[in-house]
Amino acid sequence: MNFELSEEHLAVKEAARDFAQNVLKPGVIERDNAQRFPADEIRQLGELGFMGMMVSPEYGGSGMDTLSYVLAMEELSKVDASTSVCVSVNNSLVCWGLETFGSEEQKQKFLVPLAKGEKIGAFCLSEPEAGSDATSQRTTAIDMGDHYLLNGTKNWITNGSSASTYLVIAQTDAEAGHRGINALIIEKGMEGFVIGAKEDKMGIRGSDTHTLLFNDVKVPKENRIGEDGFGFKFAMKVLSGGRIGIAAQALGIAAGALELSLAYSKERKAFGKEISKHQAIAFKLADMATDTEAARLLVYKSALDKDNGRNYDQSSAMAKLFASQVAMTHTVEAVQIHGGYGFVKEYHVERLMRDAKITQIYEGTSEVQKIVISRNVLKD
Ligand code: CAA
Repeated sequence: MNFELSEEHLAVKEAARDFAQNVLKPGVIERDNAQRFPADEIRQLGELGFMGMMVSPEYGGSGMDTLSYVLAMEELSKVDASTSVCVSVNNSLVCWGLETFGSEEQKQKFLVPLAKGEKIGAFCLSEPEAGSDATSQRTTAIDMGDHYLLNGTKNWITNGSSASTYLVIAQTDAEAGHRGINALIIEKGMEGFVIGAKEDKMGIRGSDTHTLLFNDVKVPKENRIGEDGFGFKFAMKVLSGGRIGIAAQALGIAAGALELSLAYSKERKAFGKEISKHQAIAFKLADMATDTEAARLLVYKSALDKDNGRNYDQSSAMAKLFASQVAMTHTVEAVQIHGGYGFVKEYHVERLMRDAKITQIYEGTSEVQKIVISRNVLKD
């Protein structure tokens, strides 16, 4: 077993770190306050090849592996989870889904601009009445012969207004249950497609999360991904990989909180010495470092499962469950270590704490991860 990163992996990590510290950090508090989408930052990430990291160069991507992707996600998320969620959705849900299951025409038309970062993608599964229970889709895609007629509402859609290409999961045949669901590619501007209200969120406030409405949208048949009825399996397969990205985001948030806490505790003095020299703080740092390293091993293991062609449903759910728990617990500790300074925006840890919470909710709540893990460990 080799725990060393290769020179190439270290170079990717360094490039992402450099971008996060020098480009993302200066404006991150202002974007969070103003709930401003990082449009310029995402454009630059696209130019650097971070928006289609795992896509083959043939389709405009960087042709890297999943480990490179999680290393980049970790570094970006140490600073700005609003930017990294956009990177994650585009890479693992939209680009990976299109490259793995899309037709050649769909790849040429939709994947190439997404992988180059010229366009942004969104993944639309959640509904007002279908969150964790993803088979209960109310959005309908009625087969009209040469097209589908799409009607319904999607909720909490990341990149809701900034995207141009939307992968929408909808029910075609209610009788067939999950086997009657399709995944359709919708383009911004299609008649009847309306971008609804923007959410005012606790965390990842720089990302644009919207309700989307579909009123008799005519979707050409060639925009369906895979065979008729493949939509639910498509969503599950895509989400398994997506969970590796969100696990890496949670890892980055925890690691960012640890880096800030280490630096602060070595500078700040109380009762005559640096607070890091008080056991009350040193033990917190020890716990944070240990749990963050354990989360890192789970995240890298899951990425390697995917890169080596092994099933990663279980390892990605474990990585997401544990890393998001670590992110939540230790960002609260980071605020505590910073004392009063931790409660103000300038010191960054309060934002990390607010951002950590969503990693326990999106791309499957912690409870959903436990469903996936328990079903896998109970399998004969
Ligand atoms: N790969 C392939 N097929 C899979 C699969 C996988 N990983 N998981 C399930 N399936 C298949 C099953 O084999 C089954 O097919 P068959 O009947 O042919 O065998 C079918 O899908 C139904 O599976 P289940 O019976 O397991 O389905 P379920 O109703 O019990 O639900 C669940 C399982 C794990 C809870 C699932 O509904 C789920 O993952 N829910 C959470 C959805 C989610 O993550 N939503 C997040 C929205 S996206 C988002 O947040 C993006 C963003 O903006 C950041």
